[in-house]
Amino acid sequence: MKKNTPLPPLGAAEQKQYTLAMRAENDRIFEATGKRRGAFIQTFGCQQNEADSEKFAGMCQEMGYAIVTEPADADFIVVNTCAIREHAEKRTLSIVGQYKHLKEKNPALVIAVCGCMMAQEHRQNDIKFRYPYVDFVMGPSSLHRLPQLLCQKLKTGKRIYCPEEAEYTVVEDLPIRRESSYRAWVSVMYGCNNFCSYCIVPYVRGRERSREKDKIVSEVRELVAAGYKDITLLGQNVNSYAKDRTEGYDFADLLAELDTIEGDFVLRFMTSHPKDASRKLIDVMATSRHIAHQFHLPMQSGSDAILSKMNRRYDTEKYLGIVDYMKEKMPDVTVTSDIIVGFPGETEEDFEGTMQMLSRVRFDMLYSFIYSPRKGTPAAEMEQVPKDVTAARFERLLALQKQIGQERNDALVGKTLRVLCDGVSKGNDALYSGRTEGNKIAFFEGDEEDVGKFVNITVERADAFALWGKKV
Ligand code: 5AD
Ligand code: SF4
Repeated sequence: MKKNTPLPPLGAAEQKQYTLAMRAENDRIFEATGKRRGAFIQTFGCQQNEADSEKFAGMCQEMGYAIVTEPADADFIVVNTCAIREHAEKRTLSIVGQYKHLKEKNPALVIAVCGCMMAQEHRQNDIKFRYPYVDFVMGPSSLHRLPQLLCQKLKTGKRIYCPEEAEYTVVEDLPIRRESSYRAWVSVMYGCNNFCSYCIVPYVRGRERSREKDKIVSEVRELVAAGYKDITLLGQNVNSYAKDRTEGYDFADLLAELDTIEGDFVLRFMTSHPKDASRKLIDVMATSRHIAHQFHLPMQSGSDAILSKMNRRYDTEKYLGIVDYMKEKMPDVTVTSDIIVGFPGETEEDFEGTMQMLSRVRFDMLYSFIYSPRKGTPAAEMEQVPKDVTAARFERLLALQKQIGQERNDALVGKTLRVLCDGVSKGNDALYSGRTEGNKIAFFEGDEEDVGKFVNITVERADAFALWGKKV
C-alpha cells in the first residue's frame, strides 16, 4: 500500500541514545522550571492499540516526560489511531483537528499521529495536506522509533512521514507503563497473514511475527510476581502463534507452560481464528488451573457463501464443531464472537444463516459491526448492500442477541462467581463493578479494599449485558 523507501533496522543501542538525549533535555527543563514536560497519549481502537499505547507511555516516561491526562497540559501529544472502520478514522481526524488550537496556544507543542491509520498512504496524505501542524506520523510497526523521530523533529524542525520498516521485526525490551496494577496485556505476536477480504489489518500491521516463548513466560512471571491478577495474551490471530518460528512449539504449548506459573491469577487470550483453533488448545484450557473458560471466536457470518467471499477459510460446520467441543470439555465456557452485517453481496438468506447460528450457538455476547469498506481491500470493490437494508438487519441481529444474552445471564442467577473488582461503577457510584472469569460485567456492593482483588458474589439478577449480585 505504501511506496516510500523502507527504513533500515534501528539497533537497540541507537534507540537508547535518542531516549537518553531527550531525557537530558527534559531533565534540564525540569531543573530550570520546576515542572516536567507533559506527554499525553490518546488511544483509539483495539486492545493491541491499548498495549502499544502503554509502550508509547513507557518510552515517553523514559524520555523524561510526565504522563498527563489532559491534552491541554501536554508538550507532546501522541495519537494512536485505528483504521478498522471508517467511523474510527473520522473520529480520529476530528480529534486531531481540535489540537490545532493547542498548537496555536503553544507552538512548542509536538504532535505525533501514529498507529494503523498512518500505515496507509492516503491517510498520511490527509495529515500532510490538511493538518499541517502535525509534526510526525508513523505506522504501528515503527512504534519503537518514537524517541528517534521526536529527536529528529526537534533537531531539524521538519515534518516527518515515517516510511514502513524494511523488515517487520519484534522489538523486545521496550519500557511499558501499564494503565492498571492488576490487569495486563501481553502481546505474543504481531501482524496478520490472513487477508480476510474486508480487513485492513494485514496491510497496516504487516506479516505475522511471534515473540520467543521464553520472553513471554518471563513477562507473565514478572506480572504475577508483581500482583497482576488478570493477564490477556494478545495477537491478531493467537492460534497461529509461533508458526513463523522454528522451535516447534505452538500456542497450546505456550498456554500449557504459562499455566505452570504459581499464583492467584487468570489468563486469557484474544483473538482466535476458527480456522486454526485446535482441540489441543481446548484440551489445555479445560485441564488448566489459570486459563479462563472464556473464548472469543469471531464467526463474522453464519453463511458459508459469505464466509467464502470473506476469505475466512472455514464454514459453519467447522465453526460449530469447535464450539460443540469447547462446550463438551468446558460446560461453563463463555463464548463471544464478532459479526459483520451487510458484507457485500449478503442476501436475506445469508443473513438468516447468521441469525440461525446465533440461536444455535447461543453466544454470551456479540460485538457486531456494520460492514465498512476499507480502501485497498478486495471487499471494498465488491457490490455493496444498501445502507437501509444493512441497518434493518443490524437491528434484528441486536434484538435476537439481546434475548439470547438475557437468557444466558439469567442462567447464572443464584450461582456464586469470582469477580475481579475494578472499582466504583461508572454509572452508579453506590456500586462497585468488576469482571467475572467469563469476562462478564458484574455489579455489587463493595468497598475500596476490594479494588484489584478477587471477590465472590452470588448473582441475584441479570440483564443481557451485566450481572448484579451480593458479596459472599
Ligand atoms: N467493517 C466492519 N467490521 C470489520 N471488522 C474488521 N474489518 C471490518 C470492516 N471493514 C470487524 C471484524 C473483526 C473485528 C475486530 O472488527 O468483525 O473481527
Ligand atoms: Fe483482519 Fe482476518 Fe487478520 Fe482478523 S484474521 S486481523 S479479521 S485479516
